[in-house]
Amino acid sequence: MVIIPGPASRELGEKIASLINQPSAHPVYKTFPDGESYIRLTDDLSSKDVAIVQTTYPDQEKRLLELVFLTRAAKDMGARSVTAVVPYLAYARQDKRFAAGESVSIDAVLKIIESAGADRLLTVDIHKEEVLKRTSIPARNISAANELAKHLQFRDHKPELIIAPDMGAYQLAQRVAEPLGAACDFLDKRRDRETGEILTAEKEISVEETVAIVDDMISTGSSISNTAAILKKNGARRIYAYCIHPLLVAGAVGRMKDAGVEEVVGTDTVPSSVSLITVADILAEAVKESLRSSSS
Ligand code: R5P
Repeated sequence: MVIIPGPASRELGEKIASLINQPSAHPVYKTFPDGESYIRLTDDLSSKDVAIVQTTYPDQEKRLLELVFLTRAAKDMGARSVTAVVPYLAYARQDKRFAAGESVSIDAVLKIIESAGADRLLTVDIHKEEVLKRTSIPARNISAANELAKHLQFRDHKPELIIAPDMGAYQLAQRVAEPLGAACDFLDKRRDRETGEILTAEKEISVEETVAIVDDMISTGSSISNTAAILKKNGARRIYAYCIHPLLVAGAVGRMKDAGVEEVVGTDTVPSSVSLITVADILAEAVKESLRSSSS
């Protein structure tokens, strides 16, 4: 097998290759002055199983197109199979038509990956796992919940309560809470579809000393900030914010700190200053398994 670290996941791709003891390819990546992406594969991929590691954090369209270019080029060069390893799969939140005329964007994204020639897809904590059933290639979601739990386990102040900012993140929060033996709860969050404003309903919670808010992704940090403000009112003394995908746009970290969050921690599905947890091990294992199933 050959691992191709895409331009958006170079470090993670290299880590996966070394964990599974397989060579990594070293393509040429450039961006033209007008913003167009250029990729050139320079390794021999003929009859090889290939895994392309390319996340799709902003600029999502550019990252997605680079994945398409790499997939097509690998197939053109005779790769036997291509596994698209997309640690953060963008557009997963637009999984239905919330208003007439909208695009079901995740369906379009899955179609693009499939049509590019990917034979299978691996991703991490996609917003809703069910959407993966809509693609015709084998697609698997891997959860990094345990990796978050392991990181929390070794903190000086282990949280007694894990809280999800909304019902959608409750399952993830429960998976993090379980190995820690922590309590788990969620808040009721609504998003104004016109303005994008996030409204979180007040709730009385029995708050212990230390609480960790857990969400699949942090974008503007508003969901976390609202949650932190409610936790503070309920007497929380120490608040951590943990997520899988730290997109962190528009002053998100400052917004969360102002709301009382002591530390923000995420994984390297999206490279960032808070990506302290790696998903390399769980992805390496999944890549190995996908290879075993394709050769059996
Ligand atoms: C949406 O439901 C997601 O799970 C996240 O809660 C959301 O995308 C976070 O966005 P923000 O950080 O802008 O509140």
